[in-house]
Amino acid sequence: MKQDMIVILDLGSTKNTDIARAVRSLGVYSEIHPHDITAEELSKLHNVKGIILNGGENNIIDGVRIDVSEAVYDAGFPVLAVAHDTAKRGHILKDWPASEEELESVLRSFIFDACKAEPNWNMKNFTEDQIELVRRQVCDKKVLLALSGGVDSSVVAALLIKAIGKQLVCVHVNHGLMRKGESEEVVEVFRNRLDANLIYVDASERFLSKLENVADPEQKRKIIGSEFIRVFEEEARKLSGIEFLAQGTIYPDIVESGTKTAKVVKSHHNVGGLPEDLQFKLVEPLRYLFKDEVRACGLELGLPESMVYRQPFPGPGLGVRCLGAITRERIEAVRESDAILCEEFAKEGLDRKVWQYFTVVPEFKSVGVKNNARSYEYPVIIRAVNTVDAMTATVPQIEWAVLQRITDRILAEVPNVNRVCYDLSPKPCATIEWE
Ligand code: XMP
Repeated sequence: MKQDMIVILDLGSTKNTDIARAVRSLGVYSEIHPHDITAEELSKLHNVKGIILNGGENNIIDGVRIDVSEAVYDAGFPVLAVAHDTAKRGHILKDWPASEEELESVLRSFIFDACKAEPNWNMKNFTEDQIELVRRQVCDKKVLLALSGGVDSSVVAALLIKAIGKQLVCVHVNHGLMRKGESEEVVEVFRNRLDANLIYVDASERFLSKLENVADPEQKRKIIGSEFIRVFEEEARKLSGIEFLAQGTIYPDIVESGTKTAKVVKSHHNVGGLPEDLQFKLVEPLRYLFKDEVRACGLELGLPESMVYRQPFPGPGLGVRCLGAITRERIEAVRESDAILCEEFAKEGLDRKVWQYFTVVPEFKSVGVKNNARSYEYPVIIRAVNTVDAMTATVPQIEWAVLQRITDRILAEVPNVNRVCYDLSPKPCATIEWE
């Protein structure tokens, strides 16, 4: 293994990820582990140079104050305890450092002076280490991956192709609710360029017919989610000898889904989202990476920037942007107008400045004039937002000329549309998506 590691033990702090990121920003790899890690588990981690006990307010579980076992102190690593008031040995800080500079200086002296760690954390080393770990875990067995084409699953695929080549079987399900050209890009990049073992399933018709006349947003989500699992399962059952399932789980998914001391923030669709009777062992090479690091890993693996910097895209895809009961006519209007918006945003460099942007087509029509005749057609709504965590969002001021150009193109190029609107609503009161 190429990288040294600092282990952070979670003793009820809400700042585990802050410390993990602060250690990494000094060039040393870090992982957060539960407080009750055993000596054996600790000994299986690679190149551990030191341990940080990270105390905090959630340190009582079921009425009992949590602590690390004696074995952690006996493992022979330097220990730094931050705000962990029952810490027994090591360098003990009573309070969380008052500023980022102070935190950095404490960490710097612990990591480099006490632990003698090398600043050898970088994407090249991380990727090479993960490739090696995957090879050790999987040996000569086969691994299955649902490859949506989103950032996380694409990076996992690229990493596993490097590690185990054709032992990886990727399944891409096109549910007919993908953006324009998205499925084609997955096939082009993974099958044609990276020579992956890729099964492409065009399930568009199946999804569209299941969704016919279903207007309720939650019902639509449920149908899309369960149908996706069904299609994926059908493909999985056709294959033999698969032992592992790869997932694009990333660090925030794990942290937000609840550690031993943190409550569940939100249950993520890719943590435990697949049925339990698919008895696979999991391969999750990105489980210790934050989103920006996943992108860097993707670039390191040679994925195109268009894939690595892709904006977030909801699992139900364009399905929740074609409001109410989905029709072929309106889903095409969503797809075509979205493609125009994306193209024009990219031309202006807005694709890197705006967090998420897309179009929405409602069910109602309005009156217009086209070719000197009355028209009665759908509007397209442009939605663009900036946010840090998607919990709140603001609407960026897009230049008038850009909005006008997009409007002109949508009206000229997208059938069944006679009006374009720009949604000015922040979250709250609105949500980012319209459904
Ligand atoms: P809202 O609309 O709740 O969206 O403000 C917040 C973020 O979540 C995305 N989103 C989803 N992602 N499945 C997903 O995987 C969903 O059902 C879903 N609904 C919303 C949305 O695109 C935005 O980034």
